[in-house]
Amino acid sequence: MFLIFPDPQSIANYLSSLFIEKIQKKPNLVLGLATGSTMEPVYARFVQKVHACAVDLSKVTTFNLDEYVGLSATHPQSYNYYMHQHLFDLLGFDQQRLFLPDGKCNDLQEQCEQYSQRIKEVGGLDVQLLGVGSNGHIGFNEPGTSFNSRTHVVGLSERTRIDNSRFFDDKNEMPTQAITMGILDIMEAKEVILVATGAHKAEVMANYWRSPVCESMPASVLKQHPKALVILDEAAASLLPAEVCQPAMAMT
Ligand code: F6R
Repeated sequence: MFLIFPDPQSIANYLSSLFIEKIQKKPNLVLGLATGSTMEPVYARFVQKVHACAVDLSKVTTFNLDEYVGLSATHPQSYNYYMHQHLFDLLGFDQQRLFLPDGKCNDLQEQCEQYSQRIKEVGGLDVQLLGVGSNGHIGFNEPGTSFNSRTHVVGLSERTRIDNSRFFDDKNEMPTQAITMGILDIMEAKEVILVATGAHKAEVMANYWRSPVCESMPASVLKQHPKALVILDEAAASLLPAEVCQPAMAMT
């Protein structure tokens, strides 16, 4: 079943309330976070609501899904920069509890191992928030990635490089590699929430729905997760049959 909201704003509203409720119940919540266009309205609304409700975020730990190899934390297109702009610098997080892969690290292999290990050490992810790429990637786990993967360095697919070069003024600056949490790290989260919005996500969501669980459609692995929620706006759900769509009007 897909949970369908009218538009990205109502999804942002719903998710912000959901995360605040979870943090109020468990102040040391461990959150897995994503970047990208889909998450921008979510973080903007979350920031507003946290201010309005005076939520204490000082014990929350976050792990981001991915980062481009070769971009420093101060590069405007790095995911580290994105997170500080949209979330981390706007709210009272404890900066020591915010984890992202380092795209400029000298020993990428060691960093990858430590990243997955650190997630385990804090007791695992309580909730992992995910977007989806037009080729079905989650994090930067591109089609063909093993479902047993841990945090690793990935060569970005042509499709992803074309999609994401929209963020780069100079297209040649679009990185060819990234560090991503692995599929197994994501699947070990106690709960996962995948969000897709906009008509440009309709095709991948129809592919997701039709696809068996297989590595050529990375997001399909979520069908095996005991607590996976897929949230779409009407545009992203436009190619799905009505019987698999549950309207969430009342939840906005
Ligand atoms: C980003 C990430 C990616 C994006 C996906 C969709 O941290 O992990 O999987 O969620 O590429 O990106 P947008 O939201 O820009 O369409």
